[in-house]
Amino acid sequence: MLNESWRKLKSIDDTYESTGVLLFRNMFDINPQSVNLFPFKGEENIYESKVLKKIGVQVMDCIEKSVKDIKSQLSVIEMTSRRHMPKDLDEHYFDIVGKAIIMTIEQVNKGMNDNTRKAWTKIYSIVKLSLKRRQLE
Ligand code: HEM
Repeated sequence: MLNESWRKLKSIDDTYESTGVLLFRNMFDINPQSVNLFPFKGEENIYESKVLKKIGVQVMDCIEKSVKDIKSQLSVIEMTSRRHMPKDLDEHYFDIVGKAIIMTIEQVNKGMNDNTRKAWTKIYSIVKLSLKRRQLE
């Protein structure tokens, strides 16, 4: 389920640039204030921003690797810096990003069944814990 839905997402754009932009669109649709957490805030057309595109690709890459390496979650730890996000970042931002990631996978797959949604929700909860642990290192 996970691999199939991710393969579809990757088949749309294997550089992850356009799906990374879609992820940010979803995130800022869910919560427009989240833009203030990112260095591209204030740019005129953020969806054309090189910085947004770069981070979008990095997040997608990180999710791809997290699925492959779900047992140890080494990917999240290896791929994000300790200063990746503020240590005191409010919990609800993690949930916004998680929602936006699953929404993006669902959109490119034109739907998602309950089992696949459950599997992605589980994966994201592990990713989230790893991100938080990384922050505390
Ligand atoms: C919880 C909300 C999140 C916030 C506020 C956030 C914030 C950021 C920011 C500000 C950057 C750019 C850092 C810079 O250019 O100096 C970044 C980069 C990055 N993000 Fe996130 N991010 C979040 C969630 C995620 C998730 C879920 C993943 C995927 C596992 C992820 C993976 C990455 C990666 C791999 C980079 C590039 C490496 C790094 O700067 O550490 N992020 N993120």
